[in-house]
Amino acid sequence: MASTSQTENGRNLPKWGILGAGAMGWLWTYYLQRAKIDTLLLQRQNTSSRECIIQKDKIFENCRTSAMKSDNPSLPNLEALLVATKAYSVRSALLPLQETLIKKQIPIVLLQNGLGVFEEVRELFPEQPILILSTSNGAYWHESAFLKITGIGSSYLGTLDNSVPTSLKNILFKRLEATGLPVVLTDNILKQLWGKLLVNCSINSLSALWLCRNGDLLDNPNSKQIWKRIVHEGVEVMRLELQQEVEPLEILSLIDQVAYKTSANYSSMCEDRRRNRPNEVDYILGYLVRKAHHHDLSVPTLETLAELLKFPENSSLEQTPN
Ligand code: PAF
Repeated sequence: MASTSQTENGRNLPKWGILGAGAMGWLWTYYLQRAKIDTLLLQRQNTSSRECIIQKDKIFENCRTSAMKSDNPSLPNLEALLVATKAYSVRSALLPLQETLIKKQIPIVLLQNGLGVFEEVRELFPEQPILILSTSNGAYWHESAFLKITGIGSSYLGTLDNSVPTSLKNILFKRLEATGLPVVLTDNILKQLWGKLLVNCSINSLSALWLCRNGDLLDNPNSKQIWKRIVHEGVEVMRLELQQEVEPLEILSLIDQVAYKTSANYSSMCEDRRRNRPNEVDYILGYLVRKAHHHDLSVPTLETLAELLKFPENSSLEQTPN
């Protein structure tokens, strides 16, 4: 299953595919290359390479990757495919690759915010090894092809079923660890995903409504009040779904930590609003509300936010300058 292409000092480099050329796709392209992993961007365009400028602190670097159209049947062997599209695009982005990925049994690593994507992908790929990479890194486009990395958070790698042999999980984990980004291999990724879900419900929703950076929320007493209500309602759902005790204060402190570490960032939902793009509300607040209804729980704050966040349908903005 392992695949190789470029060589360095006579040594073959492993190759990872990246599906989705957004902020997270490029952030991981950049860090994988630093770990001597060759990258191939799978995209809608028919170009053989792509590049962008990455800014981290005061350092600017050019990042270049080979690329190919995602429906090209001559996809080389890949050690893994990192799916970095928005949650609502995962299915349509994977469809042109479905046959080849199944034939080659290429492991799929999902990077989306929210919950519900795994089930959609499992339906398309009943036998494929599927992993989840839950991360809280911050990056946004300063200009087109100019990505600012604004915060390095923690990343957790895990699986939601038995589709991935331990040996494969360890190899992929070692690759991600070699990027230098903090990555933890966990056997309880679901708890991480739920924690991240409440982080996204809290940070993404308010930053998108108020069009502010994540860090601005920390200075605002109103956000703290609303976060308490989100967590109060969300934790009830989380307890029933995970069948385990969840401490609201732990989740509130996680939200603070992520907002602090990514304070210079515009959250993905805020960016979607600024650019009049659809957002991931259905996989974040929408998911939580659906699960709450399933358990007959009343979640008025989450319901209201889910409705308010239906952008650009409810309100579109003039393109905001960066
Ligand atoms: O969606 C996002 O923007 C990110 O998940 C996070 C961690 C909130 C950083 O902005």
